Amino acid sequence: MTSLLLLPGDGIGPEVTAQSRRILEAMAIPGLVLSDGLFGGASIDVHGVPLTDETRDRALASDAVLMGAVGGPQWAEVAYDKRPEAGLLGLRGAMNVYANLRPARCFDALADASSLKRHLVEGLDILFVRELVGGVYFGQPRGIETLPNGERRGFNTQSYTTSEIRRVAKTAFELARGRSGRVCSVEKANVMESGVLWREEVRALRDEAFPDIVLSHMYADNCAMQLVKAPLQFDIILTDNLFGDLLSDLAAMSTGSLGMLPSAALGEAGKPGLYEPIHGSAPDIAGQGVANPCASILSLAMALRHSLGAPDAAARLEAAVEAALDSGARTRDLGGALSTREMGDAILRQLDRC
Ligand code: IPM
Ligand code: MG
Repeated sequence: MTSLLLLPGDGIGPEVTAQSRRILEAMAIPGLVLSDGLFGGASIDVHGVPLTDETRDRALASDAVLMGAVGGPQWAEVAYDKRPEAGLLGLRGAMNVYANLRPARCFDALADASSLKRHLVEGLDILFVRELVGGVYFGQPRGIETLPNGERRGFNTQSYTTSEIRRVAKTAFELARGRSGRVCSVEKANVMESGVLWREEVRALRDEAFPDIVLSHMYADNCAMQLVKAPLQFDIILTDNLFGDLLSDLAAMSTGSLGMLPSAALGEAGKPGLYEPIHGSAPDIAGQGVANPCASILSLAMALRHSLGAPDAAARLEAAVEAALDSGARTRDLGGALSTREMGDAILRQLDRC
């Protein structure tokens, strides 16, 4: 028996997650049990908090969690630590999913939808390994204080320990062995001590345990530039929580649409994984049924592979998404006119053939 908890969340989250659910039901994976729960703003509206203890415990007891998206203007006035986004960080922290895999892959059929010229992105296949439960997102002290002179001061702390760096680097190196064997580690060691330590520890782990991996280091600002100038040079990019957030959004646009990119957040072996599209709740188009469900569906494929013991089903689902794109299926973000559900239909049709 395996279990998947769906947390559709807010905005377009429920619309895109509904297509993943349909697909999963059609695939009828033996022994897989589905359930769902409230999360983010949807949970605030009912329970007053974005993540209840009950939902957290159910997540911890599942094999995988598939999240939709959280947040929206309706909850902008909610206290900072009770916002939908705080619920997401709380869930990531509680699940201790420290390694966030964000594949930025340009499907051939979408190369012309990229913000970059076709020849720069054809064949693009970058895997970001973003540290997800540390750094400035979680560092203490943090806050907003009033100084004696009446000025206000907002502050956060970027901090990484040896073990926090090494465990995520290990994930990147292991994944590299199944790919090109190359890892580019990204920080700003020129201005941040946490970056100096990051660089030293990543290099030490490579020397000790992964001598076969070709490791390079790059400053984050240069990496942003290189991702636009010559993105094909990258295979795995290993980076911290904040740089990973920024650089993965940047790379997403080279692949055609933010609506295409899935992610997997993994912790220790045997613990549940958290899967989510990298896009947000897109309040501007929520409720219209036009959002692209591919990122959710591809996140489901990652869950099948990494947490639900169904790698063949994962490959079949990924092939179906690619075949649907090849057949010309396009939602609005990809320059087409299909609704969310019609895109789901197009993928379901291909699933029969893959
Ligand atoms: C992401 C998002 C989140 C993040 C937000 C919603 C908290 O941007 O997953 O990339 O910053 O990690
Ligand atoms: Mg982001």
